[in-house]
Amino acid sequence: ATAAVLHNWRNREMFELCASILAANPENLARDVQDAETAGVDAFHIDLMDGCFVPAVSFDTRVVRAMRAMTKKPLDVHLMVDRPLNYVEELADLGVESISVHYEVPGGAEPALKAIRAAGLKAGLVLNPETSISAALPYLEQIDQLLLMTVHPGHGGQAYLSGSNEKITAARAMTQILGSSVVIQVDGGINLKTLPGAYKAGARSIVAGSAVFCGNIQKNVLRLQSEPDLE
Ligand code: DX5
Ligand code: ZN
Repeated sequence: ATAAVLHNWRNREMFELCASILAANPENLARDVQDAETAGVDAFHIDLMDGCFVPAVSFDTRVVRAMRAMTKKPLDVHLMVDRPLNYVEELADLGVESISVHYEVPGGAEPALKAIRAAGLKAGLVLNPETSISAALPYLEQIDQLLLMTVHPGHGGQAYLSGSNEKITAARAMTQILGSSVVIQVDGGINLKTLPGAYKAGARSIVAGSAVFCGNIQKNVLRLQSEPDLE
């Protein structure tokens, strides 16, 4: 089995696995983060919610500061807030690597995307499930990753929405036709069953919360990364 796993790793285009700490145990965050890092996740995904853009609240920037002290892995921040621009400077100072902003925010994503790039960070545009891929077209030069929500944003542990793979395929086609190097990222409902479809459709950055942190983290990460159906 180990040989087969290594074989799969060598022969396919790699994807990045981002562990969404929304599903980590808040009472043992440091331990969960350490376990996920040891298991080999590539980055940590941090959801910031303000109770306005989405009804829920999650972490604030204090958790980002704590995370920065816990790990040297890249921190990928997903802003589910009405005023993303207000967060950029502080997050840049805290040393995150990438920040993603929703297309659907009041006033549009552009001011925040510009500030993220100006701060020297990777910029991501997020599309809700209802938003069509063509919405991203005018932004492609301004972003490094296009995050497609594969659940309705706001909570972990939801089911992968049907139609997501078609959207990923369309996004991948759009970037390839335009010669764009924007990476397609997916977030929500990723597990051993849904990952192969998302990967095959063209996602190369995969966010997973409950599939990483619920149960045995080491085993979860190994299985997600060595998913044999990806061939
Ligand atoms: C949902 C968040 C996700 C969430 C994913 O609004 O953006 O990052 O943690 O959780 P799972 O992987 O459990 O669907
Ligand atoms: Zn997220």
